[in-house]
Amino acid sequence: MARHTVVTMPGDGIGKVVLPEAIRVLEAVGFDAEYVHADIGWDSWISEGNALPERTVELIAKHKLGLFGAITSKPKKESEAELKPELRGKGLSYFSPIVGMRQRFGLDVCIRPCRSFAGNPLNYIRKKPAGGFEEPPIDAVIFRQNTEGLYAGIEWTNPPAAVRDAFKSHSKWKPFAEVPGPDLAVSLRVITRAASRRIATAAFRYARKHGYKTVTVCEKPNVVRETSGMFEDMAREVQKDFPGIGLWATNIDAQLMWLSKNPEEYGVILASNLFGDIISDAFAGLVGGLGFACSGNLGDEVAVFEPTHGSAPKYEKLDPPIVNPIAMILSAAMLLDHAGEEAKAKAVRDAVAAVVREGKVRTYDMLRLTGGPDVFKQGAASTTAMTDAILAQIRG
Ligand code: NAI
Ligand code: MG
Repeated sequence: MARHTVVTMPGDGIGKVVLPEAIRVLEAVGFDAEYVHADIGWDSWISEGNALPERTVELIAKHKLGLFGAITSKPKKESEAELKPELRGKGLSYFSPIVGMRQRFGLDVCIRPCRSFAGNPLNYIRKKPAGGFEEPPIDAVIFRQNTEGLYAGIEWTNPPAAVRDAFKSHSKWKPFAEVPGPDLAVSLRVITRAASRRIATAAFRYARKHGYKTVTVCEKPNVVRETSGMFEDMAREVQKDFPGIGLWATNIDAQLMWLSKNPEEYGVILASNLFGDIISDAFAGLVGGLGFACSGNLGDEVAVFEPTHGSAPKYEKLDPPIVNPIAMILSAAMLLDHAGEEAKAKAVRDAVAAVVREGKVRTYDMLRLTGGPDVFKQGAASTTAMTDAILAQIRG
């Protein structure tokens, strides 16, 4: 029997294209695992009315380790129109299976490493005052709280009377009191000490293990005083247990400005859900964009790894496929780390680094081409050719 069982959830669109590439890489480094397929995403929604079928939840609960591709989601009306006829009009509503997985398994710690690979033509560069350019290496790892904040999903258009009544008890509610219900939308930002402590602890532990000298918490406590205030307070409290590691606190807006000026100065970054989402995309853009952005969602027992990109439906049918498998492959490397296979994870990253450095094999995004079947004529490598190049490095 294999030592590990990985639940593989390709999902939709290019999720189905890139996930098998990651498995080829895991096999090449000798990861002792078997793979169990699980359905997730749009096909499950239209045929079963549930994008995260219960049998998938059971497989994840059993095996505790997941590798996920990407899903498609569509606006409310379209979602309902695409359901198979027998399921329509039954009041089913689409719910994101990724958010569902995070909530079901308490995957409250999201890690998004954003590291530049030397030789990537998409890397951030900066003009030097005296002329010419410099390309500082970027090595940021974003810790994003994954289950609370503005993404908790507690929201209303036309809030019920009990909710409106509760708001009346707040002195700042006055300007909104007379707004008619249908013209009023409210999304609640909820932060708890326990979850803030967990994500802060995960960030500091990571910093200690990997030799980062500081953790930067990015919030907005001067304006969103209660929720950002609590999140930042917990970071300060957790910091006391990590004497060698400093805590910087920046405001999210200022941080985004700084990361376009001196991104190399930041290492481990800690943020609540929405801000973490924003800052991790911003950093990803400096190190190659969606073709390179990997992530992990960690709970106490279950961990699921996924590229941050979506299903890119416009490219799903291209044959040969054109999309960059590196984000998915780096997500698989994070899975290896999590499974205690750190040497194998390093072998994967080293192989990716070597291919990027060499620069002979580049997918269309790395050449800044517009995606489509013509990219091969313009020198782009296919998805499989990119994986083949990585496999060749692994095999030496
Ligand atoms: P997307 O990430 O699917 O694609 C945006 C664009 O980024 C693509 O058109 C392509 O130009 C580029 N891109 C994405 N992945 C790439 C790769 N591996 N290599 C090269 N280029 C790549 O986001 P979009 O178009 O906003 O959403 C498409 C669908 O995906 C929607 O239904 C959306 O809801 C869903 N989505 C799912 C996510 C997930 O499964 N985690 C995350 C984001 C969007
Ligand atoms: Mg995002």
